Amino acid sequence: LTEEVRAAAGALTTPEAKEQFRLDWLGRKSGRLKTLSDAWLKSAPPDQKKSIGMRFNQLKAEIEAALDAEVAPARTSASSLDLSLPGIRRAIGVEHPLTRTMREMTAVFAALGYSVGIGPEVETDFYNFEALNFPPNHPARDTQDTLVVADQESKPLRERYLMRTHTSPVQIRSMVANNPPLRLVIPGKVHRNDESDATHSPIFHQVEGLCVDRGITFSDLKGTLDYAMKAFFGSSVKTRFFPSFFPFTEPSADVQISCPFCGQKGCRKCKFSGWIELLGCGMVDPAVFAAVDARRVENGLEPAYDVPGISGFAFGMGVERIAMMKYGVGDIGQFYSGDVRFLSQFV
Ligand code: PHE
Repeated sequence: LTEEVRAAAGALTTPEAKEQFRLDWLGRKSGRLKTLSDAWLKSAPPDQKKSIGMRFNQLKAEIEAALDAEVAPARTSASSLDLSLPGIRRAIGVEHPLTRTMREMTAVFAALGYSVGIGPEVETDFYNFEALNFPPNHPARDTQDTLVVADQESKPLRERYLMRTHTSPVQIRSMVANNPPLRLVIPGKVHRNDESDATHSPIFHQVEGLCVDRGITFSDLKGTLDYAMKAFFGSSVKTRFFPSFFPFTEPSADVQISCPFCGQKGCRKCKFSGWIELLGCGMVDPAVFAAVDARRVENGLEPAYDVPGISGFAFGMGVERIAMMKYGVGDIGQFYSGDVRFLSQFV
């Protein structure tokens, strides 16, 4: 048995092997030493008890010595470096589904010759409201649930800062700074004082469009949006236009597309109606062109928009709504959770 212990002790190169060895020999219930003690020591005839006891103790000391020895260091040699093992791969990120939706939508218009426009998220009342034909105290302002910067009562209303409630102020900034013709697609983040729920978030995204040139008509608007929806959702989607209202467009319309998911009347995405409302649009209101030109004159530029022959259209859509439908996301909060389990689905 002593030989056996010594042989086994030589092979104890890992803490796990050592623990197994300890259990095998010294385990309280069924260790071999316990078995030996029960089988031999307790039933030994009195005259042999002493010598058996001594050998028993020697064996135990041998086992303990083996356990006390350092775990022999694992052998390191060239042969233990296995070059065929796969490497440790670093997880790479994926494009966020909202970024992707915005980029794809922007690309559809970029391919039509639209430039990409951007503007600040902290806006003045002038760009977010006044120039867009929301006069002070106009009830349409109430539809926007505006988050305003505090302690500005001493300033004139038009100079007060707020979080932009839509991307439309970028229309104004672009027209003030550039002469027509103008074709712009404006992706961006907007803010509203909305309660969060499964479909609302106080911060969300829009893609806005603006086209101004000589003789732009409502037909151009219809043709452009019909083309863009087909390019984005697939060539079989249809569009239809309903009268609507925005202070900065006249006439205004809401646009529905035929459900790209069920084709007609069958799925939850279109609430079984076969149609999905996707965007707001209209012809740029002359009052907007007038406000733009007034600001251009203040800035020392020529008026260029409120002139005969110039007209334009604009449109705006919510990115989250489109992405939720397209990717079957039921809770808008998932987009902002940063949860890798959610994001890794969009590889
Ligand atoms: N700005 C509008 C909104 O946020 C959308 C819109 C943009 C409508 C351009 C018409 C033209 O609801």
